[in-house]
Amino acid sequence: MSSDAIVVLKEDHKKVRRLFREFERAGQATQRKRELVGEIIAELTVHTYLENEIMYPLVRQFLPDLEDDVLESYEEHHVVDVLALELLELDPSNEHFDAKTTVLIENVRHHVEEEETDWFPKVRAGMSRKDLLDIGAQIELMRPSAPRDPRDPKAKASALKAITA
Ligand SMILES: [Fe+2]
Ligand SMILES: [Fe+2]
Repeated sequence: MSSDAIVVLKEDHKKVRRLFREFERAGQATQRKRELVGEIIAELTVHTYLENEIMYPLVRQFLPDLEDDVLESYEEHHVVDVLALELLELDPSNEHFDAKTTVLIENVRHHVEEEETDWFPKVRAGMSRKDLLDIGAQIELMRPSAPRDPRDPKAKASALKAITA
């Protein structure tokens, strides 16, 4: 069954938001926090890759008025990538681990909020149902091969292209 691109991407958002809340409730459970941060980073890496490779370039192409929103979003993805790469090097017992995770969560919440309340509605208004279904299908087709680790060369190449091309 095919799904509309915006529906598909919002499902991903819901999943990471759930993980964020779980992290915030984990208290002093260091091992659980380490696992949760690993899951958060994997989910975000896949999602960012799919947006960078498929959704954002197509939105830019179909809706040139949204160019600034897309460019800003690429930079927001980049900030989160940097934090994710740093977090992967940190031990959860390090005093910077929670602080860095909190800043990552704040950044993603802000970014997701802008997508969902600001420019995705403009995408929905400006594109046909058929186009959104086609893009949703492309996203699902690419998902199994999307990188889950921001250190993966495939993730790095995509992230670099997003902020330079
Ligand atoms: Fe995004
Ligand atoms: Fe997103």
